[in-house]
Amino acid sequence: MSELKKRLSSILESPKHNTEEKLQKVCHLLDQEISYFNWTGFYFKNGDKDELKLGPYVGAPTDHDIIPYGKGICGQVAVSNETFVVPDVHQQDNYLSCSIDTKAEIVVPIFKDGQNIGQIDIDSHKIDPFTDEDRELLEWLCKEVSKIL
Ligand code: SME
Repeated sequence: MSELKKRLSSILESPKHNTEEKLQKVCHLLDQEISYFNWTGFYFKNGDKDELKLGPYVGAPTDHDIIPYGKGICGQVAVSNETFVVPDVHQQDNYLSCSIDTKAEIVVPIFKDGQNIGQIDIDSHKIDPFTDEDRELLEWLCKEVSKIL
């Protein structure tokens, strides 16, 4: 297991913090360790509504604290149930701009008991920065996060 995964695991397993604090720390660690992760945050299904609500994040404040299912990259992942890697956000019609600096985005769904209940969303200021290792790390992380929800 990579050093970063070990550190993420130890945050998620820590008895000292509640879920919200753990997710906030996960965002901080990813933001700190991966230079091209420039906005890192969680969205979760908002009760029984077909919309996402912003959870813990690190990065510039966003206007998109509520995202209807189907809207933007995040809303599309809420209905597709699949990781969405966007190398260049300007090539996407169904995209919600958070910051003019954002050039690329990756969104990975989180499943609990087979239901898509949220996601991790990363924005980058670099074009096409995300590697297969990033995708693998984030998909692993979402499975680990699901265990504490
Ligand atoms: N760009 C996202 C909106 C959320 S912000 O990136 C934080 C989207 O298109 O869904």
